[in-house]
Amino acid sequence: MSTPLLQVKDLQVKFHTEDGIVTAVNNLNFRLHQGETLGIVGESGSGKSQTAFSMMGLLAKNGVASGSINFDGKELIGMPTKELNKLRSQEIAMIFQDPMTSLNPYMKVSDQLAEVLILHKGMSKKAAINEAINMLDAVKIPEAKKRIHMYPHEFSGGMRQRVVIAMALLCRPRLLIADEPTTALDVTVQAQIMTLLGELKQDFNTSIIMITHDLGVVAGICDRVLVMYAGRTMAYGPTDEIFYHPTHPYTIGLLGAMPRLDCDVETLHTIAGNPPNLLNLPAGCPFQERCDKVMDICRHTPPELIFLPNERQRACHWEHEYHKQSTQGESA
Ligand SMILES: Nc1ncnc2c1ncn2[C@@H]1O[C@H](COP(=O)(O)OP(=O)(O)OP(=O)(O)O)[C@@H](O)[C@H]1O
Ligand SMILES: [Mg+2]
Repeated sequence: MSTPLLQVKDLQVKFHTEDGIVTAVNNLNFRLHQGETLGIVGESGSGKSQTAFSMMGLLAKNGVASGSINFDGKELIGMPTKELNKLRSQEIAMIFQDPMTSLNPYMKVSDQLAEVLILHKGMSKKAAINEAINMLDAVKIPEAKKRIHMYPHEFSGGMRQRVVIAMALLCRPRLLIADEPTTALDVTVQAQIMTLLGELKQDFNTSIIMITHDLGVVAGICDRVLVMYAGRTMAYGPTDEIFYHPTHPYTIGLLGAMPRLDCDVETLHTIAGNPPNLLNLPAGCPFQERCDKVMDICRHTPPELIFLPNERQRACHWEHEYHKQSTQGESA
């Protein structure tokens, strides 16, 4: 297969705080080919945004990233700011949870979108406005020609997020990172934005990293999924496997249903409790307190991240045993 557009190896993000070092991202490994979509899933505080910020060079001042983030042959960790800025505006774009993070409330949408093209593509104002209108059409904003001259507050929340998506795509980035782009929106609009992103991925052949706390959101548009907990990989692999045949207890919990071998009906299940404090992680697996499959070993030995064929990864003692037994069963 061709060289991946993005290859992340042993990524760690550490924050220095008054109370000690917080390891917000711990040993992540994944890759993304051109045109593919990766979903990063996990509860609040699992390290999803910091993973994205480390790629964009947007970590807070007390944060340090280590390991390797290779984008199209270039190492992003330690890249000089000037070079990173260029890459960030033209090849990698990010959509934030709140559209107003990216929009200036005091500027007309037309000026904000045109500015991007004038600055980065050297276009004339007229050509830039025309291109911006085309992009608003592409993200399905009705009457784009007229609406482009409005201010952000004149758009609904869903429409504002469409404007932000249009802005992110203006320079035709090769990688789009969408950090919970729909959590502030109602369910119907969420679905529309997800469908839109799926279509844009086809039209523009953009690679997407879709960050969300909802595993259901990724099922429709992601090729692969990374499930994170307390900064670590719990499971990683093709969406079909992670979503339709989950065997990691945390993934099963996130899906909100426990598969039952003895009957067809799935029992609804939520994960009780909260993620651990990163400054005071338990010995062993970080998920042990909430895991209904917890074994003795989970209490004292962290599960090793195991790399499997077909680019799958898992880190779970119970799951490891489960797969060992099922393979033994098959070969018996
Ligand atoms: N500047 C900082 N200093 C210390 N800790 C930080 C800093 N920024 C983030 N963290 C910690 O890093 C951890 C991961 O945060 P992150 O923002 O990546 O979570 P997330 O998975 O995106 O959660 P959410 O779904 O709520 O957005 C959290 O425990 C957070 O408190
Ligand atoms: Mg976040």
